[in-house]
Amino acid sequence: MAELVTEYMGLALPSPLVLASCALSNRIENLQAAEGHGAGAVVLRSLFEEQLESATSALEEELLGGAESNPEARTYFPPQRVGPHDYMSLVERAKRALEIPVIASLNCAAPGSWTEYARDIEQAGADALEVNLYAVEADPAVSAGEVEARYLEIVAAVRQVVRIPIAVKLSPYFTSLANFASRLDGLGVDGIVLFNRFLQPDISLERMAAAPTMTPSAPAEALLPLRWIALLHGRVRAHLAATTGVYDAPGVLKQILAGAQVVQLASALMKNGIPHLGKVLAGIEDWLDRRGISTLDELRGSLSQREVSDPVAFERAQYVHLILSQNI
Ligand SMILES: Cc1cc2nc3c(=O)[nH]c(=O)nc-3n(C[C@H](O)[C@H](O)[C@H](O)COP(=O)(O)O)c2cc1C
Repeated sequence: MAELVTEYMGLALPSPLVLASCALSNRIENLQAAEGHGAGAVVLRSLFEEQLESATSALEEELLGGAESNPEARTYFPPQRVGPHDYMSLVERAKRALEIPVIASLNCAAPGSWTEYARDIEQAGADALEVNLYAVEADPAVSAGEVEARYLEIVAAVRQVVRIPIAVKLSPYFTSLANFASRLDGLGVDGIVLFNRFLQPDISLERMAAAPTMTPSAPAEALLPLRWIALLHGRVRAHLAATTGVYDAPGVLKQILAGAQVVQLASALMKNGIPHLGKVLAGIEDWLDRRGISTLDELRGSLSQREVSDPVAFERAQYVHLILSQNI
């Protein structure tokens, strides 16, 4: 029988599946259900830096409207106004209730005194901290270099105040992601989580108004983290965590083959329920057993860009080849 134990940022996880930070991950009963169905760790909902909190809540109010007709959906989108005090209490309660590692999450867009919350989170007992750099950078006066410098300043400030492992969760919108990842590495981050998924505003033609949307991810979206995990594996010291679009055992196995240490799931569990974790794990075990593979370490990164015999497969040349061969 294959062994699924996984080391992530120095923490021992019983499996590589992690409940991602999402609307499920601020209720203790959901965290316990995730543990019961085989999650290796949980990431709590982000504590949002003040100015983002109100914007997020407004979007979620809209969602709650849509979820009203479906009581199950309602539990997936509980009201989110969580202040720092409630958040520390959530960390403490999660720690008391679970044996698997509890990863807290702090959303930050700018350096500031709120980095002190990172210290509070550590004191509340979190096993690790995910720094969620979730911000839509839309100021024409601010260059990419300035944005990156600000992000690095945030991460350095958090690194200074806590000793627990830190993961940084990124969006895919970087001009030179590999360079940014290696600079994070230089700051001593323990994990890089690829990729966050922004709420995308739509426009309602009936109301003639902007309409925030938060649709579940589609499995095809997993190709973006897959590419970047394959490209970064072996090139950064930090562990890589995949998030976005992973729904099933093949989806998890592909990310691990590309080089992911763990795979985080949100949409799959919001759509199918937390017990779905058990099915994904059974699928992984079955696949490994059929191939006589006994540990995930044997697989991890074996199809990363550095390892594959045709490394351009993840890069431009293959893209051109594909387009030419299909006459697109
Ligand atoms: C309702 C909802 C709330 C989320 N809240 C957070 C959050 O507070 N912090 C965070 O880092 N990511 C948050 N996410 C992003 C997820 O952690 C995850 O990265 C993203 O949904 C992509 O994974 P998926 O395809 O499995 O959904 C949220 C996602 C959803 C759907």
